[in-house]
Amino acid sequence: MPYARISGTGFYVPPRVVTNDDLVRIGIDTTHEWVVQRTGIEQRRYADEGVGTSDLALPAARDAIARAGLRPSDLDLIVFATLSPEMAFPGSGVLLQQKLGMCDGDDAKLCGAMDIRNQCSGFLYALKVASSAVKAGEARHVLVVGAETHSAAMDLSTQGRTVSMLFGDGAGAVVVSASEEPGGILGTWLGADGRFAEILCQRVWDIRKRPFIPLDEHGVGQVQPSHMWAQMEGRTVFKHAVEKMCLALMQACWATGTDPKDIDLFCFHQANMRINQYVANTLGLPEDKVLHNIQRYGNTTAATIPILLAEAERDGRLKRGMRVAMVAFGSGFTWGSSLVDW
Ligand SMILES: CC(C)(COP(=O)(O)OP(=O)(O)OC[C@H]1O[C@@H](n2cnc3c(N)ncnc32)[C@H](O)[C@@H]1OP(=O)(O)O)[C@@H](O)C(=O)NCCC(=O)NCCS
Repeated sequence: MPYARISGTGFYVPPRVVTNDDLVRIGIDTTHEWVVQRTGIEQRRYADEGVGTSDLALPAARDAIARAGLRPSDLDLIVFATLSPEMAFPGSGVLLQQKLGMCDGDDAKLCGAMDIRNQCSGFLYALKVASSAVKAGEARHVLVVGAETHSAAMDLSTQGRTVSMLFGDGAGAVVVSASEEPGGILGTWLGADGRFAEILCQRVWDIRKRPFIPLDEHGVGQVQPSHMWAQMEGRTVFKHAVEKMCLALMQACWATGTDPKDIDLFCFHQANMRINQYVANTLGLPEDKVLHNIQRYGNTTAATIPILLAEAERDGRLKRGMRVAMVAFGSGFTWGSSLVDW
């Protein structure tokens, strides 16, 4: 059975920086101090109108493929994690495949391309699919992407401030490749609890209704604000996040016989700096091993962990031979953990 290694990482964030003071300037009743104290977020990135999620993913994917020493035509599968695809269907995976130039010409490669809809845990769910395909011998190189365009679908008024201050746009990617060398992705452990599906959700439509979006007298769909914007019970999310992230990390340690002290780097989903500090304190993890970039990007949902990995590799904090733990929690509720020997 081949091993599944992460052979390349990449990331991209759009250039437009939006600080907490910028949110105040557009009329949201908040303060920089409030947001930093509750979340650690100082700024986030917003894509310009006209830019889609697969556009953000494209440079991240190219970067990861190049660093793996590959070309797009070497890929056997694309797994694209996002909650903000360009359209309801098809998913962003096929759009990315086309933008990578895989659909025509001498370098065409009409490999499978799928979307994973698991929100903040989406990257780890996607990693599970990719590593399983590689370990089963069904794929040699799988592109795994996490990318989001939140800025198009946020209530940027005071009413929506609790949610909109948290999120930003961005993309991260890794290539998972078959290898004979022991190590790589040791395992990925997933969980979900559908009882909490509506605690953090964005409805947009109700498929039980006819039509699924109410029409006005001109036949134009009318989406109510409560369906248009993400709804969240923040405190319930916080409470479950810390509990499930601790358990998910311990599950990975038990399954592999790993002492948490032997983990070199912790890449936690970036939802709230306080959540991650709470997890680190509860499990006694040394601060200098826990990566954060939420200050600069906010919560980029499926993109947080691959962006962290790519940045850490570039700034030298993530080196070959390290044992890396990834943990995520999000809407669903869903969660997951993964241990990787880099
Ligand atoms: C969102 C979160 C920071 C809010 O912090 P909190 O301490 O729970 O705050 P609450 O929602 O109870 O709101 C407290 C008060 O602050 C206000 N408030 C909310 N957002 C605000 C903002 N951006 N600026 C100023 N005040 C704000 C609320 O309106 C409320 O005011 P009230 O007491 O007059 O009603 C926190 O609940 C959290 O981080 N939850 C997890 C969210 C998360 O990680 N989501 C993604 C999961 S993947």
